[in-house]
Amino acid sequence: MTIKAYVYDAYGTLFDVHSVTKKAELLFEAHGKAISEEWRKKQVEYFMLHQLTGRYIPFSEITRNALLYTLKKLSLQCNEDALDSLMEAYLELKVYEEVHNTLHKIQKNDVKQVIFSNGTYKMLEPLVKKRELTDVLDLLSIEDVKQYKPAPGAYQYAQEKLCVNRDEILFLSSNFWDITGAATFGFKTAWINRGSLPLDVLGVKPHYIFSSLNDLLNEKELHS
Ligand code: LAC
Repeated sequence: MTIKAYVYDAYGTLFDVHSVTKKAELLFEAHGKAISEEWRKKQVEYFMLHQLTGRYIPFSEITRNALLYTLKKLSLQCNEDALDSLMEAYLELKVYEEVHNTLHKIQKNDVKQVIFSNGTYKMLEPLVKKRELTDVLDLLSIEDVKQYKPAPGAYQYAQEKLCVNRDEILFLSSNFWDITGAATFGFKTAWINRGSLPLDVLGVKPHYIFSSLNDLLNEKELHS
């Protein structure tokens, strides 16, 4: 199998979206975990609905709207300062501990390594810079085509930008909705099953199922 590009989802795959819990807990004691979980759930629901109804707005707005809903649902005081502070946390999410080592080791095999995310460049650039990944990762955002993953048009854009065949791309994501979209489009897929979840019943079987990115390094056929 000739893989010419490793394409990574960002939120949940390289960066821990739930690392916002700490700041949420500081702002809203005893509600940090609930805020983080509802926020991510609504964020995913909102970009899916904006995509399905053909009403593109930037991921930064979707993320803020999801947070606004979350604070209201939990009957918490949602002032601009709290919203701004939690949105700021999205620009400094923790990177999963195996990411640096794995991506730098793969870099030696001269394959392209790219983030392909629903996030905007203004959200992704500070994050990749802060977590010192700019030397191993290029960035691609769906904002260039205004089609949210898992819509086929999103993956088509990434393939065209990379100028490789669909099956020469290994797409890696912890989000099964993203694996479903990428596999349906024709990418090879690796599901980073960080939560040890069962396979979703969506008629899609990832080519690889890993518990972390580390497992990539042990897949001999990927580095043949
Ligand atoms: C991403 C999130 C939405 O595209 O998973 O990075």
